[in-house]
Amino acid sequence: MEQLLQQIEAVKAEIAASVATTPSEVEQYRIKYLGTKGLVKQIMGEMKNVPNEQKKEFGQILNAFKILAEDKLVELQAAFEQGDEASSNIDFTLPGDAVPVGTRHPLNLVRNQMVSIFKRLGFAVAEGPEVEDDWHNFGAMNLPLDHPARDMQDTFYVQEGTETESAWLLRTHTSSVQARVMETQKPPIRVICPGRVYRNETISARAHCFFHQVEGLYIDENVSFADLKQTLYFFVQEMFGKEVKVRFRPSYFPFTEPSAEMDISCQICSGKGCNICKHTGWVEILGSGMVHPKVLENFGIDPEKYTGFAFGMGVERIAQLKYQVNDLRLYSQNDLRFLQQFKSV
Ligand code: PHE
Repeated sequence: MEQLLQQIEAVKAEIAASVATTPSEVEQYRIKYLGTKGLVKQIMGEMKNVPNEQKKEFGQILNAFKILAEDKLVELQAAFEQGDEASSNIDFTLPGDAVPVGTRHPLNLVRNQMVSIFKRLGFAVAEGPEVEDDWHNFGAMNLPLDHPARDMQDTFYVQEGTETESAWLLRTHTSSVQARVMETQKPPIRVICPGRVYRNETISARAHCFFHQVEGLYIDENVSFADLKQTLYFFVQEMFGKEVKVRFRPSYFPFTEPSAEMDISCQICSGKGCNICKHTGWVEILGSGMVHPKVLENFGIDPEKYTGFAFGMGVERIAQLKYQVNDLRLYSQNDLRFLQQFKSV
């Protein structure tokens, strides 16, 4: 009997120390202790050799032993049912749940690309306020108060001007930033001014009350119209590829003389004619010209010594030609179905 009791104690210790790191190890445990040929059955079988007067006491010991073995089985199984990470068999090669991440706005993608092209030409980036005084947006740019060209850009006024106080407005172009640069820096000046601008227009597929510009300014000795053309030609080739064609048309801006608008061959139909280019094969992308001597004088820059060129273009238009977006409103509606298409760009 002594021997049997010792064997029970040994098996109990073994059971207590049992661990399983996979479901199949749990099964091995079950077979070893609780299977039809398992140790519990074997030891229970010894009951027949126990003398009658000890059967009651022994019966209790064996019962407790059996319950211990069964409880351990339940404990080992539970680890897997609860998905206990330390001991379960999670398949770590399964792909995880995707966490949705934001994407860059198409206008930012295009703006960044534009900025990086001009940076390679040595242009620095300048930024300024969106709420401007009359002088930086208009006056300094050779648009005095009564100038009819102010009507070219329907302005949102924040505060009307009085005899003694300037009007405040939402800038209508980032030329206002160029004004601020000329105010604080001496030539040579070579900057681009990316930013949001506002004009009082009815919102439609083709017009919006705000849009984005990249304007540029280069002032130094001997800067010529040829430099302007070459700079802009380089820009469109980098932006759209070597195949792109350009043409300059004479134009008018109060702050440049002479002035020109630049068209490029339509990137949508390759010049064959479509809705975007109104079947001309050409699309206007920017205004430009040689900085008007009056503008230079406004900032104490000697027009006899220095010359410069300036240009300004809309980011939306460049993005339209790059991505064939034909409704300006899409850029500000924040429809994820639209925005998510720019993931991989
Ligand atoms: N400021 C002009 C506009 O907003 C663009 C421009 C900039 C034209 C510089 C010529 C020179 O339309």
